[in-house]
Amino acid sequence: MENTTSTRAKVTAPGLLAWKTEGRKIVMLTAYDYPSARLADRAGVDIVFVGDSLGMTVLGYDTTIPVTMEEMIFHVKAARRGVAKALLLADMPFGSYQASPEDAVRNATRLMKEAGAAAVKLEGGAPVAATVQRLTQAGMPVMGHLGLTPQSIHLMGGNRLQGAGAAEAERIIDDARALEQAGAFAVVLETIPAALAREVTAALTIPTVGIGAGPYCDGQVTVWHDMLGITPGRAFRHTRRYAELGREMEEAITRYAQEVRDQTFPGPENYV
Ligand code: KIV
Repeated sequence: MENTTSTRAKVTAPGLLAWKTEGRKIVMLTAYDYPSARLADRAGVDIVFVGDSLGMTVLGYDTTIPVTMEEMIFHVKAARRGVAKALLLADMPFGSYQASPEDAVRNATRLMKEAGAAAVKLEGGAPVAATVQRLTQAGMPVMGHLGLTPQSIHLMGGNRLQGAGAAEAERIIDDARALEQAGAFAVVLETIPAALAREVTAALTIPTVGIGAGPYCDGQVTVWHDMLGITPGRAFRHTRRYAELGREMEEAITRYAQEVRDQTFPGPENYV
């Protein structure tokens, strides 16, 4: 398969605005380290996203709540070394922006200055609009995140569909408009009905990026471990598994262990 890294243009946050009018879909994928970011970039992913989902996928937490700024910075730095053309987007972890816009500016600055992110993402609508405005005024591109917002899992009572009722749907549309007005360059829509995602997408001039929000968004985001079959258990409804790497890795490691034990590895080709 052709690798187009050298011929592709660098993806920028403001550049994505035109993609919406052109009908060009945005491909966003999580990656949490150098090899995964490099592979995603080489495969032509537009936004390499170091999500706080790394709390579950990489660090083994139950939720995204415990993820710290230090953990995010560590992983964004690693991913940065693998990215050439994609936009490197970093999640702001729980507690890094909720208390005040000043906290948000300080922490987003760290993600961009120390770690090398080109944009940040935070969760919430109208209540964080002032923060989004402060960040963009400080020169930092911000992606919003509405619908199922995993940092509020305890308030929401679990990972469930959002925006199913009329009042909730109205609130999500208002929140999306508030984020756009505050200067966000795009908005993630997570686990909301496809018809609502379509309405939000039509209401905004900035792109929407869906996960579990149907086909009408301006782009899609997927979690690395989900699409590659590394997440244990059954695939989520919104995920398509493009590979079963978890199974393949386990089989390979089992074979390696077996061959060490039965002394068929190393073989004559492995040493001088
Ligand atoms: O952290 C993450 O991976 C996310 C996506 C689910 C959008 O926020």
